[in-house]
Amino acid sequence: MLRRLHPEQPDSFAFTPANLAWAEGQITKYPDGRQASAIIPLLWRAQEQEGWLSRPAIEAVADMLGMAYIRALEVASFYFMFQLQPVGSVAHIQICGTTSCMICGAEDLVAVCKEKIAEKPHVVSADGKFSWEEVECLGSCTNAPMAQIGKDYYEDLTTESLARIIDEMAAGKVPTPGPQNGRYACEPLSGLTSLTEHEDGKPAQNASVALATDIGDTIKRIDGSEVPLLTPWVGKDGKVVSRDAKDMPPPAPEAPKPAVKQAAEAKPAKAASDATTEEAPETLEGARGGEPDDLKLLKGVGPKLEQTLNELGFYHFDQIAAWTPIHIAWVDSRLKFKGRVERDGWIAQAADLAAGKETEFAKRAKKDGKNED
Ligand code: FES
Repeated sequence: MLRRLHPEQPDSFAFTPANLAWAEGQITKYPDGRQASAIIPLLWRAQEQEGWLSRPAIEAVADMLGMAYIRALEVASFYFMFQLQPVGSVAHIQICGTTSCMICGAEDLVAVCKEKIAEKPHVVSADGKFSWEEVECLGSCTNAPMAQIGKDYYEDLTTESLARIIDEMAAGKVPTPGPQNGRYACEPLSGLTSLTEHEDGKPAQNASVALATDIGDTIKRIDGSEVPLLTPWVGKDGKVVSRDAKDMPPPAPEAPKPAVKQAAEAKPAKAASDATTEEAPETLEGARGGEPDDLKLLKGVGPKLEQTLNELGFYHFDQIAAWTPIHIAWVDSRLKFKGRVERDGWIAQAADLAAGKETEFAKRAKKDGKNED
């Protein structure tokens, strides 16, 4: 496929102020004379902002990096991830057409795109909302057929589910990414045959879907307000402090790693010898006033895990919010599935919930009724 600049171009391009600050921060990552190395992140951010890369955008990035326009255009036209033509204002849909997806129905999904969006790829629909293309394997073959829409994957698609997703997006909604056929992740369609012990109390969504839902930028145009500027070498005044490792602030001390143990009750002697790495947090005989908090509002806590926590003496968010790393190690060694306290961020969630705030997960759990036994 020939990749050329689109015949119709806007007059100009400018990063939003926040995206400009982000881009300038990226450039400072590279040594003097090597600023061109920032070309891909800057082009990508321009595309995240506008949906596609126009000639003014490519030239604006080239100017920022002191590059000849043709060098920036070479990069933009080489990588297929860069869209060189306008895309739908709501979403650009990338249908995987490689072997697994093709065998499992990708051609039918393409037919849906042809019917609902446009007969040809890279053509914006009549209402301006969507465009589509067929792409090579996106690495989600066990969940074939699938499509990338915006930043996220929609997997285990059927013609019906893809049509529904397009309709919902057209109506301003963002359907939950991930498997669309009820699968949790990429386990066998007929259900798990091993590792079934991890089923108890598993989070409501697999980690990728949970992250995508938490971030919520599946089809959002990025204006720079979404992510913090990860440029610790840039001072608050926007000036580069230093790129030398020796001048960088020391890394934050690592939290003590939870002791990895088998079930505590199976190894009491080992637990005793770990007294320096774990310590029992304060526990209660029962819920205060007989009214326990709904611990299922913590990500990763289901009815069974809530029961386990209650049996250990934890009934309230403020108890969990007060856990220190050595307390976490103690709790962790008594849970079947280790590491979830930190992985699912219980402490921060519990602190918010104890303070009467709502968390994204709690909102979703209440809406979906996932906190109900
Ligand atoms: S073949 Fe479609 S994701 Fe790999």
